[in-house]
Amino acid sequence: MLTEPHIDGAIERLFKEIQFPAEPAGLYDPLRYMIGIGGKRIRPRLCLTAYSLFKDRFTPRLMEVAGALEVFHTFTLLHDDIMDRSPLRRGQETVWKKWNEDTAILSGDVMQIDAYKRIAKAPADRLEAVLGLFSKTAAEVCEGQQYDMEFESMPEVPMEDYCKMIGLKTAVLLACSAKMGGVMAQADEKACQALYDYGYQLGMAFQVADDYLDAFGDEKVFGKPIGGDIINCKKSWLTVRTCEKLQGSARETFLARFNEQVSKPEEARKIADIKKIYVECGVDEDARAEVCRYTEEALKAAKKLKLNKVRYEVLRRFAENLVGRAK
Ligand code: IPE
Ligand code: IPE
Ligand code: MG
Ligand code: MG
Ligand code: MG
Repeated sequence: MLTEPHIDGAIERLFKEIQFPAEPAGLYDPLRYMIGIGGKRIRPRLCLTAYSLFKDRFTPRLMEVAGALEVFHTFTLLHDDIMDRSPLRRGQETVWKKWNEDTAILSGDVMQIDAYKRIAKAPADRLEAVLGLFSKTAAEVCEGQQYDMEFESMPEVPMEDYCKMIGLKTAVLLACSAKMGGVMAQADEKACQALYDYGYQLGMAFQVADDYLDAFGDEKVFGKPIGGDIINCKKSWLTVRTCEKLQGSARETFLARFNEQVSKPEEARKIADIKKIYVECGVDEDARAEVCRYTEEALKAAKKLKLNKVRYEVLRRFAENLVGRAK
């Protein structure tokens, strides 16, 4: 069976070899920049890991599809950073900051097209399934991003709606990545569905962890500014959970402070105030527990694959690495 170092090596080679056209440099340089500064590459890794449960050799077409997942993800980040006004990504300046917003929009557009070109390299007998899964997922990510923006101007958001939103903006792409490995390996329908469920639950854990790290992470490790969600009044799992736990005037006070737009010199104070309430309410602990709960759900889905011990262990380790993430 293909081992973790083998998968790491394949990913390393894949991104070293990814090429974009030279001209116009203004369009393609941001693509080279974003792929160059890396990232965790969780989605192609998940795809290759799922595939490795069924097959012992990675094919060039599989690598194209795995690459498409990361290129598509990176495209969503280009646009997301404009929408979230984020200055930092992967420890480096975001594209809209380094170049400008128009560049981030157009380079993002061409990056999405590049992802589709890679998807189109799937073998003919699987192309319809691969393309269908990918397109459905891509549209869902946009739907999730739309809800995310709409929630910004809503005074508060119920947990159920919040979870639906993160399911769309984040979890479906991890679900798609895991299932894609199964589809490419010609696994049966039931196995593909179990992989999808495994990826979905991991994706939910992943976004709750992202929300937690946005407030309580270490900027140097996380690679994004701590408190960005708080500064931009972006509701996170922590905000929604706090509203569930607080009542009456304490709740009003929290929401008023959270939804307050502050000037640059006031930012650190606002972050400290909100984090203090989070800690008093214990929602930091709740978030960590929720990440574990979703991870357990992912493992329940993985059990439905009825894998042997060695193979199940591969999925367990993948999940374990995500739970413990600090970046
Ligand atoms: C960031 O994704 C966007 C979310 C869905 C939270 P990652 O945390 O996978 O970002 P990179 O690719 O490693 O930078
Ligand atoms: C990201 O959500 C979801 C997508 C990019 C589709 P966030 O906005 O929380 O991601 P970060 O924190 O900027 O990476
Ligand atoms: Mg966002
Ligand atoms: Mg963002
Ligand atoms: Mg975030």
